[in-house]
Amino acid sequence: MSGIAHGEEDLKPVEQSGLNAVLAEKGAKAAFNHAFEAGDELTEFNFTAERGVGANVGEGRRFTRIPRADLTGATEWSAHLPTREGGPNATACIACHNVPMANGAGDVAVNVLVDPAHTGDPKRFLERNTLPLLALGVPQRLAEEMTAELKTQRDAMVAQACRTGAADTALVAKAVAFGTLAASRVAIEPCKVEIDKNGLEGIDEDLVVKPFGWKGNHATIRSFTRGAAHNELGLQAVELVGDKDGDHDGIINELTVGDITSLTLYMAGLERPVTRLELADLGLTKVSEMEKFRILEGEALFASTGCAACHVPEMKLDTPIFSEPSATPGFYDVTFPSGTKPSDESLTQKTAIRFDLTADQPNNRIETATGEIKLLGALRETKNGGALAHWFTDFKRHNMGPVLADPDAPLGIAAEMWPTRSLAGVGSTGPWLHDGRATTLDEAIRTHGGEASDSRGAYASLPKEEREALIAYLENLVIFKQEEEDEDL
Ligand code: HEC
Ligand code: HEC
Repeated sequence: MSGIAHGEEDLKPVEQSGLNAVLAEKGAKAAFNHAFEAGDELTEFNFTAERGVGANVGEGRRFTRIPRADLTGATEWSAHLPTREGGPNATACIACHNVPMANGAGDVAVNVLVDPAHTGDPKRFLERNTLPLLALGVPQRLAEEMTAELKTQRDAMVAQACRTGAADTALVAKAVAFGTLAASRVAIEPCKVEIDKNGLEGIDEDLVVKPFGWKGNHATIRSFTRGAAHNELGLQAVELVGDKDGDHDGIINELTVGDITSLTLYMAGLERPVTRLELADLGLTKVSEMEKFRILEGEALFASTGCAACHVPEMKLDTPIFSEPSATPGFYDVTFPSGTKPSDESLTQKTAIRFDLTADQPNNRIETATGEIKLLGALRETKNGGALAHWFTDFKRHNMGPVLADPDAPLGIAAEMWPTRSLAGVGSTGPWLHDGRATTLDEAIRTHGGEASDSRGAYASLPKEEREALIAYLENLVIFKQEEEDEDL
């Protein structure tokens, strides 16, 4: 499917009602596979002006690499709805997401510059390196379960405060501590409490864990995706702008609700990052005994130098079912940004498309020498119907010190605060850090500051061979996709 030439083929919009019909007639698996296929094409497609790619930037331009808050005409860059953060700067998602392969990370050549506050001042632009799109259903489901846990703890505290007048609680989800909340009753019948949120750590006041974006400012794949489509490609989804031509390129309805559903399910259901040790077990690569020994030594050092406290190597998912729309409050749209209700656009809980993160991923179904199929793209199941996820993050924001700080904080999150970056696949996704400044993993670690200073110090004072073992452990975490059979045969 690769290599579609610009403008030569058409890509039909996916209607949400069409997805719903597949679900009703052929079942959940068929609906998921249908959406996955459509999402695959949408991420690879080179969109054309006819489909509304790009925007009326001003000066006759359709694209711009640099935010242009200086273009203030009534239909130009700074007047688009919703407010532009950057771009548009590409005609396809995989123009950026392509390291080491489609749906991966990106080189610094395609770093994105954003100016959400429209300062027009290059010193205050934020610079972002491209993140990989693999198995995004895993972080979203982990975040959903953590959020639900935290809200249960808050609700129990409020109930107790209503009974006794005051209460506090330590917030903990999947063994990660998010600080404390305190409640005091201010009215009886009906009970009203005041909640003191000053003790919260690494999470927003709404207690919604937001796993997406370097800054952790989006809870769902869906909301990040409609933003990416608008900012990077200049494709304005109906659910974002309704029937308005918010970017003044003469085209409306640039992406349907069904298109965004398909993109969401596609990225949620992509194969997960793997390890070289797993690949070696399946005969897909060779790892020498010496190398294996060093990876295991590195794993122990990863824990002893304190990396694992933030980059949590393993978490358990109780219910490994991804659902679009999600059923977890905070992870579905009550109303779309356009103002319409999802149910008015045929997107409902009753017609949610679900798949099993331990079984249904279409990619990396590996046939072994004995003819057995290994689901390398899926999560490993646990005995009680849960799954193990190796996402290497605590989903919490940390103060990383002044060196890594953004030049400005236009997203409402302090400049030096960053959520622990997942290390799933990190051996394949360089250059590293939020702006791609680290050309080696060693540099990425040595640039850690703030709350990670002790851990960085512990790493830096290791003997050279041990530092190399820790790096070998990180290089063991890779992105892999088995070549597909030639589809034309
Ligand atoms: C011009 C380069 C570029 C293009 C084109 C692009 N992206 Fe991205 N993508 C990025 C960058 C940079 C980030 C990190 C942004 C951030 O953290 O603010 C990112 C992040 C993401 C994320 C969040 C991943 C995570 O784990 O947090 C998703 C989802 C995503 N992109 C989807 C898409 C989709 C879908 C398209 C096509 C509609 C697309 N992107 C087009 C550069 C690009
Ligand atoms: C206090 C929490 C914390 C600790 C401890 C920590 N990290 Fe990080 N790590 C982060 C954050 C946050 C980022 C993203 C920073 C950025 O891009 O600005 C990150 C980024 C990284 C990256 C780059 C990932 C990428 O995709 O670009 C690597 C590699 C990494 N850490 C490895 C380590 C290792 C190895 C250790 C232990 C020596 C460690 N970290 C300790 C929080 C932590």
